[in-house]
Amino acid sequence: MKFNIAVLPGDGIGPEITQQSVKVLNAIADRFDHEFIFEEAAVGAAAIDQVGDPLPESTLNLCKRSHAVLFGAIGDPKYDNDPSAKVRPEQGLLRLRKELGLFANIRPVKAYEALIENSPLKPEIIQGVDMVIYRELTGGIYFGEKSTSADGKSASDLCFYTVEEIERIAHLAFKAAGERRKKLTLIDKANVLETSRLWRKTVKEISKSYPEVELDFLYVDNAAMQMILNPGQFDVILTENMFGDIISDEASVIGGSIGLLESASVGEKNALFEPIHGSYPQAAGQGIANPLASVLSAAMMLDYFGLIEEAKAVRLAVDVSIQLNVCTKDINRDNHYSTERVGDFLESVISDTEDHMIN
Ligand code: IPM
Ligand code: MN
Repeated sequence: MKFNIAVLPGDGIGPEITQQSVKVLNAIADRFDHEFIFEEAAVGAAAIDQVGDPLPESTLNLCKRSHAVLFGAIGDPKYDNDPSAKVRPEQGLLRLRKELGLFANIRPVKAYEALIENSPLKPEIIQGVDMVIYRELTGGIYFGEKSTSADGKSASDLCFYTVEEIERIAHLAFKAAGERRKKLTLIDKANVLETSRLWRKTVKEISKSYPEVELDFLYVDNAAMQMILNPGQFDVILTENMFGDIISDEASVIGGSIGLLESASVGEKNALFEPIHGSYPQAAGQGIANPLASVLSAAMMLDYFGLIEEAKAVRLAVDVSIQLNVCTKDINRDNHYSTERVGDFLESVISDTEDHMIN
């Protein structure tokens, strides 16, 4: 089959990790006889430097006409340290999510058996953890009205949700739970926030259509604690934009490295695949960034294309690399492989060449 894939490497380590995913996808195309056509475009700080806009029109148009977007990472410290900066790299990603209507961000989290000792959490706590976070991605406080008073002495970000925004992601989360362990946890702050009360009411109503799924509720502060105390209790988590951002970074500790966490952002017409980690600017260009989160995001892209066997082949290659410790420094502290060599290894496993290049 033929697919057009927009590649947006972005900032920091974005380009080097994304390159490994392209390598892996090319190996899949060869082995399974598909045609993947990659077209690259600038986003984030890289795009600001080139054309003064973190999401140039040409990049947006490319994404709209492609079957899917492979996204690297975004962010540059030169903007973080300048609170008055009007144009920020992150705006590129936020606008892209909004323009493409990517309302559901799906973030699977699991404990890899071979990496159980890597997590700062005790093995008995994380053993067997397998959850997926459904984070609402185009609403809430991220996109509500923003303002700063003329004298600069006050500022406001509005948290706003409609029933429709809650319903569409809730349906996806309930369907996912139905195909998994049939448990859905809504994380909110319904003891304080009106928007959370709307989430609870709406989700409760929707749950009537999914009687096989057990629904429970957790306040976000308690959820933050439960994520560390007893993460095995979670199957599918459903939550709003900002809580999902925070909870998923916390959950990444379970896998032993944030460099392992993939994500898919989907909407009615478009889909974007990106690691949950940031641009890690300190590591850019050093070949130490873990490409696995990006590669696993590419596997989610293959699933989205309906290429299930192909996605499995990618995940199998990742499992082999973890088993054999062909991993970057975040995982393999003593004898680490570079970003590029991990990519080459995955490519060789997928192509099933004799020499898996381990030494
Ligand atoms: C993420 C990131 C983004 C977010 C930033 C870069 C805008 O942290 O994808 O989790 O907050 O959504
Ligand atoms: Mn985040």
